[in-house]
Amino acid sequence: MAQIREGRVTVEMGEGVFYNPRMEMNRDISVACVACLPGVKTYVDAMAASGIRGIRVKKEVPRELDVTVNDWDADAYRLIQQNAALNDVAVNASNRGANTLLSCTQFDYVDLDPFGTPAPYIDSACRSAKVAMGVTATDTAPLCGAHLRAGMRRYAARPLKTDYYHEVGLRVLLGKVVREQAKYDKAVRPLLCHATEHYVRLYLEVQHGVIFADRMVDRMGYLLHCFKCHHHELHPGMAITTPYACPVCGAKAQIGGPLWLGDTKDDAFVGHVIETIGAGPFGKKERALRMLQTIRDEIDVPMYYDQHILCRDLKATPTAIGVLIDALRARGYRASRTHYSGIGFKTDAPVNDIKATILRLSPPR
Ligand SMILES: C[S@@+](CC[C@H](N)C(=O)[O-])C[C@H]1O[C@@H](n2cnc3c(N)ncnc32)[C@H](O)[C@@H]1O
Ligand SMILES: [Zn+2]
Repeated sequence: MAQIREGRVTVEMGEGVFYNPRMEMNRDISVACVACLPGVKTYVDAMAASGIRGIRVKKEVPRELDVTVNDWDADAYRLIQQNAALNDVAVNASNRGANTLLSCTQFDYVDLDPFGTPAPYIDSACRSAKVAMGVTATDTAPLCGAHLRAGMRRYAARPLKTDYYHEVGLRVLLGKVVREQAKYDKAVRPLLCHATEHYVRLYLEVQHGVIFADRMVDRMGYLLHCFKCHHHELHPGMAITTPYACPVCGAKAQIGGPLWLGDTKDDAFVGHVIETIGAGPFGKKERALRMLQTIRDEIDVPMYYDQHILCRDLKATPTAIGVLIDALRARGYRASRTHYSGIGFKTDAPVNDIKATILRLSPPR
């Protein structure tokens, strides 16, 4: 049987049991996030496959944790027990359906890492999670609007395949979790969220009480996007009150949502995770740090622009993204890079001022 070394554990890979080496950075960050949540004493990896994520949490988080590692597949269950023994850690191996387990047991922290969409498990995870939750979604096509009908069915929202579709997907998923929690008079506070390669990952603190839940609903809303001139604007509230014409160019605009319009990170938490990863033996340390530092430095303006798409429309040549960001700042706007895309940037500048800035830097060809 092949053995894999990741973080401070070695695990065996069983035939037919899932393991994706490309998710190592995701697991590195998971371990660091749990380490940065001192209120978490009980943890469940509800869809564990080989058990690597939960076993790493048990071994690498430097405090006593009661860890449950669950998978409904019999081969995965056997492998989880084997891998726990191999690493000399005591975890509660479990062989149940995730919804059954989460419906009858509460955990401080619930991790959802399904194949594809987490939508069928969000409700039970919301009932189970007392302190925090981690959610992965790999169904980026439905989330981002490429498979519109599947996205609407799963998330009860209309995604839009805009230039900044990674962020739309993240906010559609976050909006779904917010609405599922709100029905139990609970809320979530986004601690750290990222869209990387083929997946979206959320780390959310759970807050209890009507006051928090009501506040969350106020941060839901709609997105108006003009596919002609790239203008977009946000409209808070659960009832659609947006105009249908683009206020900048008059073209018919598209409405997406409801989705989450609030912050997607807590700066102090992200800083703490950066320190934890910087100090630990993580295999994807450099890459994780680069991404987390970019997230830390992102301005809190929802959605981003893609310089190459704007330049294509303007027939201009893209400049280094840092040069464009500096130029926007020099004009008095806030601007930053974004982890969603190396050629993307966030700014509070109106789209016509962004275009004017690009044209100044690089006149049309
Ligand atoms: C993407 S893999 C998990 C990968 C693992 N968390 C990791 O980091 O390597 C998804 C796993 O969820 C399991 N699974 C799918 N649906 C499930 C359900 N309803 N209840 C419990 N396990 C489930 C599958 O058997 C599979 O092993
Ligand atoms: Zn327009």
